[in-house]
Amino acid sequence: MRKKIVAGNWKMNMNLQEGLNFARSVDQYFREKPAPKAEVILCTPFIHLQGVSEIIKNGKVELGAQNCAAEPSGAFTGEVSATMIKSTGAQYVIIGHSERRSYYHEDDRLLNKKTLLAINTGLKVIFCCGEVKEEREQGRHLIIIKRQLEEGLFTLPAESMKMIVIAYEPVWAIGTGLTATPEQAQEMHHYIRGLVKEKYGRECAEEMTILYGGSCKPSNAAELFSKPDVDGGLIGGASLKKEDFAAIAEAF
Ligand code: PGA
Repeated sequence: MRKKIVAGNWKMNMNLQEGLNFARSVDQYFREKPAPKAEVILCTPFIHLQGVSEIIKNGKVELGAQNCAAEPSGAFTGEVSATMIKSTGAQYVIIGHSERRSYYHEDDRLLNKKTLLAINTGLKVIFCCGEVKEEREQGRHLIIIKRQLEEGLFTLPAESMKMIVIAYEPVWAIGTGLTATPEQAQEMHHYIRGLVKEKYGRECAEEMTILYGGSCKPSNAAELFSKPDVDGGLIGGASLKKEDFAAIAEAF
């Protein structure tokens, strides 16, 4: 059975105290509830990782980072390595978010390097892909996703694919309030699963968790998650409100 996941991407929000207080309330919420059908992950800024790791210990929430360095260690001022992330107790790292691709010019080759490094360090990777508005309008969305996956991800050996979660995040839907329709999400997720199948075979494709991201909220989560190839969500804005995030995690 493939895993359902709801991951919160805090992005660059909340100082240390605010973040730890928020994590405490999310952790507490899920401890008091029966286990949700989806695995719940908090992807926090680097500075929160260790503190959140202690808060969630033995609870029902998992932890991830939002980026990692492309080099294992050394003279790279300002960078945080996959090994450092792993040492906080985090299990996941988001790689290839569209904000990294566009604002920090991270290209497919660099993302591929980061992905390999993260996996070799023992981190699971939430690998993001997504087209911009013009690419969809020009009908190029499928080809763009194919390129991002082939160049960023499909160099991995088959045995590493169990460490991968794919997140489809149409850039035009991120933080804009515009959500892909459940049909648009399903079409793309089905296409992505087909690409995984072509490259790694049927079993790997069936096991692959594919998340949707982009203005996912309590009012649309259940419908999105009801689609057969949508296995959960990567949640930005709505992950900063406990009630909304909890409602999305319980939308299955
Ligand atoms: P959003 O962000 O939910 O605020 O649109 C999603 C994401 O960027 O992961």
